[in-house]
This record gives sequence, C-alpha cells and structure tokens, in this order.
Amino acid sequence: MIIAIDGPAASGKGTLARRVADAMGYAYLDTGLLYRATGAKVLAQSADPADEAVAVKVAENLGPDDLSGEELRSEEVGTAASKVAAIPKVRAVLLDFQRNLASNPPGGKRGAVLDGRDIGTVVCPEAPIKFYLTASVEERANRRFKQLQEKNPAAIYERVLKELEERDARDSARDVAPLKMAKDAIHIDTDRLNANAVFDAVMAHIHTHMSADD
Ligand code: CDP
Repeated sequence: MIIAIDGPAASGKGTLARRVADAMGYAYLDTGLLYRATGAKVLAQSADPADEAVAVKVAENLGPDDLSGEELRSEEVGTAASKVAAIPKVRAVLLDFQRNLASNPPGGKRGAVLDGRDIGTVVCPEAPIKFYLTASVEERANRRFKQLQEKNPAAIYERVLKELEERDARDSARDVAPLKMAKDAIHIDTDRLNANAVFDAVMAHIHTHMSADD
C-alpha cells in the first residue's frame, strides 16, 4: 500500500505524512530530504546548485549519513534543493531510490507514505491513495516563519515569503515532474484547518478507501 502526499513548500505535508505513517504502521519517506541533501552538499563544495555535472555526481553518491542534520531545514538549503530538483538527470538518479523504498518498505512494513511534489504524478502514479495539500502562500510563509523563528529569532517574515514564492514558481515551472495535482488526488485546502483537523480528514479518507477494498 502506498500513500502519496504532495503539495507546495510548507503546506504541512511532512508533519502529516509522518503522523499518517505512524498511525498506519507504514514506512515514511520525506522525498524533499533527498533534494535538500543534494543541494546542501553542492553548496558545501561552493558550487552552483544549477551546475548539472556537480549536482548529478552528488546525487549519485548520497548516503544515509547525508540525510540528517538541522542545517538541511534552512531556507537557503530549500532554495538550493529546488534548483537541483529542476535538473532532469538529478531527478532520474533519485527516482529509483524512491520507487524501491515505496515497493519494498524497510522493516517488513506493509506500506509506505511518501511526501513530495511528484509522488502521485511521477514516482508512484499507481498509488491507490493520493492527497494534495495546499494553503495560501501567506499562510504557508506564516507557518514556516514560526518554525524558523524557534531556531533563529532573527528570521524575517518578508524574506521567508519571498523565498517561498520563488520556490513555488521554480517548482511549478520546471519541465520535468513539476508540482502538479494528480487527477485522482484528494485536494485538501489547509488554510483554515489546523494540523489535527488535516490529519483527521486524511485518516477518514484512508479508512473509507480501506473498507471499500475489504
Ligand atoms: O519542506 P518543504 O515543503 O519546504 O520542502 P521539501 O519538501 O523539503 O522540498 C525541498 C525542494 O525539493 C522543493 O522545493 C522541490 O524543489 C524539491 N522536491 C522535488 O522536486 N520533488 C520532491 N518529490 C520533493 C522535493
């Protein structure tokens, strides 16, 4: 069983996907982390994240140790991630890893929850349950700003808003696997819903789907 959760930056996919995976006893893959780790390693080499040769080499050599660390969550790394993510060869390298995990969830789990931008459209188009989360860019900037402020009191709302707008534009305009709702996804607008309400709505859909299958 694969559950796909897509949506733009800071739409609440990560928190939701982790909770759904826990509740279902499924594996969880934050696919954005793969792009963030690639972007961060390119930056660490003082290279340009849009440099195809460097980014592809980094993506090919990513290891489990590259996928953790607070620094991966910065907006600077988010921006670098969306630049490497626009390179088709980088996406091709990371695709196999994502598909493998989806079809063979680690730890003998019966399913996997993947969150990202193209899970329902490209990585796992056959997933039987897909969600697409949205919220206005101002609401998303507000949420991301609060998260960042906990770590860095000097965070600036206007800057977070501008970075999200630029990232949305880049993620939606790219030629390969752009941010787009799959035709068979359930759309949830989270502007007026808190994290618990979103989780409850998603779990209700999953249970309806599962009982229809019985
Ligand atoms: O956490 P947030 O929503 O800000 O971003 P993320 O999910 O960690 O993704 C960071 C960047 O990676 C995005 O802006 C996308 O450009 C890229 N990404 C992608 O292209 N495809 C995915 N499946 C996941 C992330």
